Amino acid sequence: MRKLLVVDDDSDLRKSLSEALEENLYHVDQARDGEEAVGKVLAGDYDLAILDVNMPRMTGIQALKEIKSHDPSIMVIILTAFSNIRDAIEATKLGAFNYLEKPIKADHLVAMIDQAFRSQNMVKALAYAAPVFKMPNDTEFVGQSNEMKKVFSVIDKLARTETVVLIRGESGTGKELVAQALHCNGPRKDQRFVAVNCSAIPETLIESEFFGHEKGAFTGADSRKIGKFQYSEGGTLFLDEIGEIPPSMQVKLLRVLQEKKFTPVGSNREIDANVRIVAATNRNLEAMVREGSFREDLFYRLNVLPVQLPPLRERKNDIEALCRYFIDRFNQRYRKNITGIRPDALQALKAHPWPGNIRELENVIEHAFVLESEHEIHAESLPEKIKGQALQSGQEEYARASIETGTISLDGDDDGVSFKLNVQKLDFQASKEEFEKQFLVSALKTFKGKINQTALHANIPKKTLLRKLEKYGISAKDYA
Ligand SMILES: Nc1ncnc2c1ncn2[C@@H]1O[C@H](COP(=O)(O)OP(=O)(O)OP(=O)(O)O)[C@@H](O)[C@H]1O
Ligand SMILES: [Mg+2]
Repeated sequence: MRKLLVVDDDSDLRKSLSEALEENLYHVDQARDGEEAVGKVLAGDYDLAILDVNMPRMTGIQALKEIKSHDPSIMVIILTAFSNIRDAIEATKLGAFNYLEKPIKADHLVAMIDQAFRSQNMVKALAYAAPVFKMPNDTEFVGQSNEMKKVFSVIDKLARTETVVLIRGESGTGKELVAQALHCNGPRKDQRFVAVNCSAIPETLIESEFFGHEKGAFTGADSRKIGKFQYSEGGTLFLDEIGEIPPSMQVKLLRVLQEKKFTPVGSNREIDANVRIVAATNRNLEAMVREGSFREDLFYRLNVLPVQLPPLRERKNDIEALCRYFIDRFNQRYRKNITGIRPDALQALKAHPWPGNIRELENVIEHAFVLESEHEIHAESLPEKIKGQALQSGQEEYARASIETGTISLDGDDDGVSFKLNVQKLDFQASKEEFEKQFLVSALKTFKGKINQTALHANIPKKTLLRKLEKYGISAKDYA
């Protein structure tokens, strides 16, 4: 229920408005003047305040300023006598949604509140739809799905803080992009962003890579060297694949996180670590903690504010926007002019489970992009494993599978694709062809041999349909 605050020194007006608003299912509190109003707003979570202009102790205008400086998203409606209309106009410049002239009619006020909430929702939706992050070079962080919008709003909040963030997600989900977004949109953006891949450093060198070493600290240390913690001073240190750091290093990392100090190898001088740590992993750290390969205390220290990136198969709504983004980039890189992606190709992409997530999608689009001779990406230009998906996903929706002893039968709805598979003699290719034949014959029967209609209703590109009919020696005319 929305929470409103009615503020007027006229107690009769306050009461009558409050009653009318409560009838409209708002939760209503009251205040007698600006000062009381500001106190209540600071203590409670109000959605909207209705403020009279002329009040003792603190005017409505002053209260408006204080409320807006506390929380600009609280809506304010000003109530004013005609003699104060200038103040009311001034109030709208200060962020009030609108004003109403006294005497106040309850239904006018209710209508205005309604309008205020609708516009607030619109603003929220817009802000939510377009979390545009500054990113390095000309890269973009694409995401339109609700899943990614949630992630974006978390990144947006975390970017402004200095706390350790652990980014979690399968391989290729964009963990490094999150780390960059946190850096580029936070207070350290003008300093260095240093990425370290923990899995790429040999165990014997990792301490020196992180903290640096003094000359002669170990065999081969023929000069003094600064480590990544010092190199990223003032900026962000991105510890990628944190699950791979050896136990000896885990304890040292924990110490830096706790004490914000480290000691270079072979030195007895402590150095302050002024870096923001962002870590990432695709490993199941909880399981690693259970089996003893990852320190529990370090895990808890890192996992305070995790950002979980959903796999691409759980946010298929992003596929189209990602494809467009990659096509734009490849147009520049390869100096081509591909304008988009054909619906059947998009459908096939949406049917694929994307175990390699966005990195895999990027590679697939690049592959298709290079092969494509026309102005749009066609399903034919996609790799074999993806092309097959369109047909397969159609079949899944179309057929109900029921397993009988020794045979699997796929039963079409009513128009008669019935397919028996001998489980003792399993052969995927042969079974697939058998299914295709039966499917095509049944579809042709239904659409009386008309190629265009069959292609349209069975959701097969016309070219593919003709190719398959030829392959199986099926003549559409036979069903006319
Ligand atoms: N939302 C996105 N918008 C645009 N590009 C993206 C997005 N997510 C990922 N990418 C691109 O996909 C590729 C893989 O992303 P990234 O390297 O950040 O993944 P990762 O989670 O770090 O993978 P890994 O675990 O394998 O290291 C990169 O080229 C990145 O630019
Ligand atoms: Mg990565």
